Amino acid sequence: MSPIRHCLSLLDFTTPELIALLERASELKCMRQQGEPHVLLPQKTLGMLFEKASTRTRVSFEAGMAQMGGSALFLSPRDTQLGRGEPVADTARVLSRMVDAIMIRAHEHRTLEIFAEHSVVPVINALTDQFHPCQLLADMQTWFEHRGPIEGRTVAWVGDGNNVCHSYINAAARLGFTLRVASPPGYEPDATIINTAGAEVAVMQAPEEAVAGADLVVTDVWTSMGQEDENARRLQDFHGYQVNSALMARAAPEALFMHCLPAHRGEEVSTEVIDGPQSVVWDEAENRLHAQKALLEFLIPR
Ligand code: CP
Ligand code: NVA
Repeated sequence: MSPIRHCLSLLDFTTPELIALLERASELKCMRQQGEPHVLLPQKTLGMLFEKASTRTRVSFEAGMAQMGGSALFLSPRDTQLGRGEPVADTARVLSRMVDAIMIRAHEHRTLEIFAEHSVVPVINALTDQFHPCQLLADMQTWFEHRGPIEGRTVAWVGDGNNVCHSYINAAARLGFTLRVASPPGYEPDATIINTAGAEVAVMQAPEEAVAGADLVVTDVWTSMGQEDENARRLQDFHGYQVNSALMARAAPEALFMHCLPAHRGEEVSTEVIDGPQSVVWDEAENRLHAQKALLEFLIPR
């Protein structure tokens, strides 16, 4: 039997594996659109452990399992023994004897790693403080569907050097695009993550410099889940980092705009950009479903 594979970050996959996953995601999307049955995971169960809120991730994983003939169950520390202090390692040992894969949205990336160390089934990162690989699968699928290969293109990240930004760094390493990150001082992405990925990443302060001629402009909220106490400070510190029409005008004429959502219109992005013709955020959100179905099919042994 081949060893179990996890998806803790995009670096768990080779470049050919990632490209195959993205192609499969688009195939699964077509099958669903054409009403073609794709009962690929019959009787398989996905455990979904959420330490933080979610709309897209929960619904896409749950609907995806149902569409492939399996099922998913929602778990949270509030209504499991985790919330009463049962160790993560013990929870992993127990749950993984009952289900076929587990996805976790955790405050700390270390929780996910401990879970994976003790799980006998694949563990999927559904967002931690460090990474959000499932989001990048959807973003890259969306790029491919609109524009083809991303190798050699330039992506501008404007705003917080956060978990989604870190997954962009990993994607740049695996898929060969240039990444320019513009963040206010103190909010840059983690240098260790940049060095580990070995990606071509330029970190700067001026959004205008990052966006100049870029093929894809991406942003995310200024205050991520768990940072709510810093909100007032962040609103001040990120002043000037909004992706608006003036900023988009500096990108390539055919540039696309992406945002993982949920978005705060009037903060990190203007209404005219997120609801405008360059925005592909709704395709991006939908592709969470298809990309994760491809991921589940890839990871769950049959
Ligand atoms: N983009 C994303 O992960 O959305 P949710 O927090 O709604 O799952
Ligand atoms: N950076 C955001 C992404 C939400 C999907 C957060 O961690 O809250």
